[in-house]
Amino acid sequence: MKNTGIKILITGGARRLGRILAETLATRGASTAIHYNSSSEEANDLKHQLAAHGSTAHLIQADLTSPATCEDVITQAVRLLGGLDVLINNAATFQSDTLRDLNVEHAQKQMMLNCWAPLLLARSFAQQCPGGKIIHILDQRIARHDGHHLSYTLSKKALAESVGMLALELAPNFTVNAVAPGAVLPPDKRSGTREKAGPAPMGHAGTPEEVAEAVAFLMEAESITGQIIYVDGGQHLL
Ligand SMILES: NC(=O)c1ccc[n+]([C@@H]2O[C@H](COP(=O)([O-])OP(=O)(O)OC[C@H]3O[C@@H](n4cnc5c(N)ncnc54)[C@H](OP(=O)(O)O)[C@@H]3O)[C@@H](O)[C@H]2O)c1
Repeated sequence: MKNTGIKILITGGARRLGRILAETLATRGASTAIHYNSSSEEANDLKHQLAAHGSTAHLIQADLTSPATCEDVITQAVRLLGGLDVLINNAATFQSDTLRDLNVEHAQKQMMLNCWAPLLLARSFAQQCPGGKIIHILDQRIARHDGHHLSYTLSKKALAESVGMLALELAPNFTVNAVAPGAVLPPDKRSGTREKAGPAPMGHAGTPEEVAEAVAFLMEAESITGQIIYVDGGQHLL
């Protein structure tokens, strides 16, 4: 149980990749605050599932497209956990668009949730806590030019650029790193937003559990900052 006692906040942690991150890290002994937006049923189910395994999870509901809410989420996490060691910025929205059908309102909402919210959460974390680790969940698309997901890809590229900037600004008290998954999950039946995995040099794009392993590694690493780990079977190389 390498993560014993570490206090972590995971955004969008009630289902899909965020849930696997929460389950993996809680199983290793981390204390968790799990943020969700609309998935209250799944969040409560996860809380009960973790409780059955002896792990207490605190739930925080918030729509992260509101800047003021981001600060409040950190305040709540610090209060519920009695401090905060790790912020995992996982929540995001994934929409298809191209230059031709770009809708500025949708693009701005995507940029707010996928880029500005993680930065505002990171800022509040740095303001409210003496030190810790910030881990963004990116996407292997940051290395490519996916014009069919124009605003999503731009939002993740912008967040990727922030990794080095934040790492420098927040050193030596905080490390700032990221994990960039490939298509580790099949399409989301509920939102229908995530497409099937494309080709990968390794023949597969990785698994959610491998993403969780990379996050757990970054949570333990004291001297690694400003880094992005791709967990994508090499998709970003194509
Ligand atoms: N899935 C993949 O294969 C894959 C590949 C590459 C990168 N990624 C990245 O990995 C992360 C997780 O992927 P995923 O597929 O599991 O994501 P997802 O299902 O599309 O969304 C993750 C969570 O974001 C939350 N969210 C959506 N709108 C929100 C809002 N307005 N305010 C607050 N939270 C909101 C949702 O919470 P609620 O359900 O509670 O509303 C949702 O559970 C994302 O950052 C994604 O970009 C995933």
